[in-house]
Amino acid sequence: MADQYAEWLAAIPKTELHLHLDGSLQAHRMLSLADKHGIRLPYATVSDVEAAYQFKDLQSFLDLYYLGASVLRDEDDFYHLMMDYLLVCRDENIVHTEIMIEPQTYAPNSVEFATMMAGFSRAINEAAENWGQSVGLILSLLRHLSEEDALETLQAADAFRDQFIAIGLASSELGNPPEKFVRLYAAARERGYRLVAHAGEEGPAEYIWQALNLLHVDRIDHGVRCLEDPKLVVHLAKARIPLTVCPLSNVRLCVFDNMSDHTLLQLLEQGLCVTVNSDDPAYFGGYLSANYLALQASLGMDRAQTLKLIKNGFEASFLADSVKDAYLKQLSEWPNS
Ligand code: HPA
Ligand code: ZN
Repeated sequence: MADQYAEWLAAIPKTELHLHLDGSLQAHRMLSLADKHGIRLPYATVSDVEAAYQFKDLQSFLDLYYLGASVLRDEDDFYHLMMDYLLVCRDENIVHTEIMIEPQTYAPNSVEFATMMAGFSRAINEAAENWGQSVGLILSLLRHLSEEDALETLQAADAFRDQFIAIGLASSELGNPPEKFVRLYAAARERGYRLVAHAGEEGPAEYIWQALNLLHVDRIDHGVRCLEDPKLVVHLAKARIPLTVCPLSNVRLCVFDNMSDHTLLQLLEQGLCVTVNSDDPAYFGGYLSANYLALQASLGMDRAQTLKLIKNGFEASFLADSVKDAYLKQLSEWPNS
């Protein structure tokens, strides 16, 4: 049964809309880059790194995540990081992905914006040429830093404006509400960016309202705490505001105790445009398909529900309408047995 589901799932074209590229840094690459650049990490082996993947909340994860990302220094490092993930996209049939990259993470190590972009672009262009990979980049700003810092990063991105589709907001949510970034989102909107933001992962439903009403986002990253506010759920459903939900992440960061407690199917039943994503797959125990498989195993998610989630992924994407429609048509004819 499970094998048949996995095989069926593998053949379906999918999107991924919530993926932090630094969160796809595999332990072996973290160690080899630390070695290459003479950076001391408190881990000697892949098992040492993986043994540290025990998180009690978002912050305990972010501490390791930023330490890991500190080994990324030159153009080749960024090329390999991107290519490692795009190869997973090829293998899992993720035909379109919208990837969050976080330049503020590398700035303390004097990494130039242009260095990072050169590595990313080289990988993206190769993947597009070699297997037709479709990629959008999201300029993800860090909410534990100041709005000023984010605005400076937005300005630095002006030189690469055509390479980004959207801006996003990530990192420590509690204590850094969306209202802290009103000027940033207004400036991005003026520049023609689409807008997304993490809200309602650890933060309350009120943060989701703020992201909608003050930042005017097109899409909410996570958003699972919306269920605490029935009016918000009705609004999200009516307005078809997508939620990019990340099941394995939610369990690893203790948003839910167990996968069997996850509310994703409830959200789907209430008519929300819910999508499935991996967030930080190297740290949370699996890439996109592993997230679908975990839902199937723990919640008994069936094929019709799976197809709906995959369709939602195309609807929620920033692909051109004509491309979306072609995939949606293909999916509406996909066998669910
Ligand atoms: N939440 C907030 N920031 C993040 C996450 C997350 O799940 N992953 C990487 N940065
Ligand atoms: Zn995230």
